[in-house]
Amino acid sequence: MEKSIEQIHDDALREIEAATDDETLKQIAVRFLGRKGAVTGYLRSISQLPPDQRPAAGKRANEVKKLLEAAIEAARGRIAQAAARAGGDIDVSLPGRPARAGSLHPVTRVNNEICTIFSRLGFDIAEGPEIESDYYNFEALNFPPHHPARDMQDTFFVSEAVVLRTHTSPLQVRVMERTQPPVKVIAPGKVYRCDSDLTHSPVFHQVEGLLVDSNVSFGDLKGTLTTFIHQLFDKQIKLRFRPSFFPFTEPSAEVDIMCVICRGRGCRVCSHTGWLEILGSGMVHPAVLENVSYDTSRYSGFAFGVGVERLAMLKYGIDDIRRFFENDMRFLSQF
Ligand code: PHE
Repeated sequence: MEKSIEQIHDDALREIEAATDDETLKQIAVRFLGRKGAVTGYLRSISQLPPDQRPAAGKRANEVKKLLEAAIEAARGRIAQAAARAGGDIDVSLPGRPARAGSLHPVTRVNNEICTIFSRLGFDIAEGPEIESDYYNFEALNFPPHHPARDMQDTFFVSEAVVLRTHTSPLQVRVMERTQPPVKVIAPGKVYRCDSDLTHSPVFHQVEGLLVDSNVSFGDLKGTLTTFIHQLFDKQIKLRFRPSFFPFTEPSAEVDIMCVICRGRGCRVCSHTGWLEILGSGMVHPAVLENVSYDTSRYSGFAFGVGVERLAMLKYGIDDIRRFFENDMRFLSQF
């Protein structure tokens, strides 16, 4: 007889304890308890013992067999539990992970606010293509070919006659081509310019405004824009109209508002001037009205184009326009 039953018992227990998977346990069971296993072999060898030792040896061997079977069963339970802890199972009693509610992008919010304000003033909303022909982006707006005013716009060209629109003003022409006065629309949308720094992004948003009717004056333009700014910010914000130039308006004005950060006292955002430029505007140039066959002796109009990011930066105190396009959740989830 090679090993004592106690020795076999100890060896088997040591292996069972060390086992970490079911397959190993199965092999241990075969090696110790199977037909050619150590315990079985021991039981067979009992016949070679002196007769007086046989009953005790047989009894002990059967005990060991039962003990090892129980130890293997216990190890199986231990292995299953470890697998469950490692994520192999689902604990339905754990609290769920709440789904995060999204929020509107700050540019979308300000864009919506602008649209709401002008809708209340009776403006319809128009939309048009971002890939635009030279004709609508420039020519019909009174930019002759090779006119230096095209330089103001840092154009992305798709081909010689097709551009990414540099402003929403093409909508003025598209809307007037398909409607007769009175025309009262705003046109929100993306525009593109080859320009990028703290305050310029190659893609940004504008809202165009156009009103054409009989007896429209510069006073109507001032009144409309003043109402708009007072509703978007508050009634204390003053506006300033500065003479400017656009080929499609005459006269033209750029509009500054009192700096909403320092309320006119002067700060870094307004370069210590107390004023911020927010839009371009003017009376629609008669040449533009003629391009859509409007009777310029009966009709006049005003137009304006406002930068949405600019207003969003002022509204929320954001100092870098690139934040809007980086998709940083830490930034976006504040809105
Ligand atoms: N389209 C001009 C720009 O983007 C703004 C503008 C619109 C000016 C309407 C006058 C009238 O710079």
